[in-house]
Amino acid sequence: MRAHGGRAPEGVIDFSSPINPLGPPRVLVESIERLVREKVYVKYPDYSYRSLREAVAGYYNLNVENLIPLSGAAEGLSLLILALKPKYLITVEPTFGDHKIASRALGVPWVTVPYALEGLDYKLDPGILCSLPRGLRRNSLVILSNPNNPSGSLTPKNVIEELLSCLDKGSTLALDEAFSDFTGDSESLLGSGFEDVVVLRSFTKIIAMPGLRAGFMYTSNTRIHALIDSIRQPWNVNIIVSEALGELLREKNYLKQFIRETVEFIEAERGFLVSNMRALGFQVYNSRAPFLLVRHPEPHPEFNNKLAARSVYVRDASSFAYLSPYHSRVSVKLRSDNLKLLEALEDAVRGS
Ligand SMILES: Cc1ncc(COP(=O)(O)O)c(C=O)c1O
Repeated sequence: MRAHGGRAPEGVIDFSSPINPLGPPRVLVESIERLVREKVYVKYPDYSYRSLREAVAGYYNLNVENLIPLSGAAEGLSLLILALKPKYLITVEPTFGDHKIASRALGVPWVTVPYALEGLDYKLDPGILCSLPRGLRRNSLVILSNPNNPSGSLTPKNVIEELLSCLDKGSTLALDEAFSDFTGDSESLLGSGFEDVVVLRSFTKIIAMPGLRAGFMYTSNTRIHALIDSIRQPWNVNIIVSEALGELLREKNYLKQFIRETVEFIEAERGFLVSNMRALGFQVYNSRAPFLLVRHPEPHPEFNNKLAARSVYVRDASSFAYLSPYHSRVSVKLRSDNLKLLEALEDAVRGS
């Protein structure tokens, strides 16, 4: 049922888990180490997370009252289903998410709509929701990941705004912007103030600490905000994370520079991988994320077994809707690792 990246076998280079290849920011690591030495964990965190919310609001220029701290964007996706009890869960596929499994367990029917594949681009047809029967669009929760995992496609703001106009009474659009920092936030709707929109953000990928678990939800919809805040687990973000993250976000210039360097690095290495993988004959979809969706001539598990022989592990993407054992998701890593991936791929296509 559940299939995730980031659980590679021992001793391989893990291309399955898309996180910042530059590693965690120094300031964050130093804060965590200091907070552990100070044993701050002997106290409960502040239930309202005022200081963390103020730090997030200050960094992204948001209204502090519209923020809810999360232990990761994934928590927000599940909370939304519990809180809103939508009539339908509508997702644009292929896309990430365990919340679909949760919705079935809770008896919320799950409806999928596909991205349109145009050449090597996964595109969102803004009219796709309007083409659904009206009953499906009422009191529903629509989830859109932007940029999307696993394709890496980035839907422009104006297309999302068009999509919104097809939402009917009582429906909500949740924008999962877990990877938005990697795009320089160029199409983010964070802080846009739409009443029917909830934005979910993750810190785990950009600060390269998926084990820490941190993110937030932002909505100017006071009803949804109150609902989510009242059902979230008390103290859902641990005190080390909330304090260390607050300190990092208050170092605004340092963090902005860290993210700028990350964006430039990812763009360069992604371009390097794309051109070399295409030269080897792989079908590589256009991506704006720190990962690439690839179609290969040989299916999994044979494909992954061949790569494993060269100590390389990629994410078998066959568990995503509309994809197959011929698809993999490959994270963008440091140049030395990317070269090893390319060597392993070359061996795989040559059959050695
Ligand atoms: C699109 C998307 N949203 C959310 C998540 C979960 O993020 P977090 O670690 O913040 O829970 C992931 C994890 O890979 C993801 O790919």
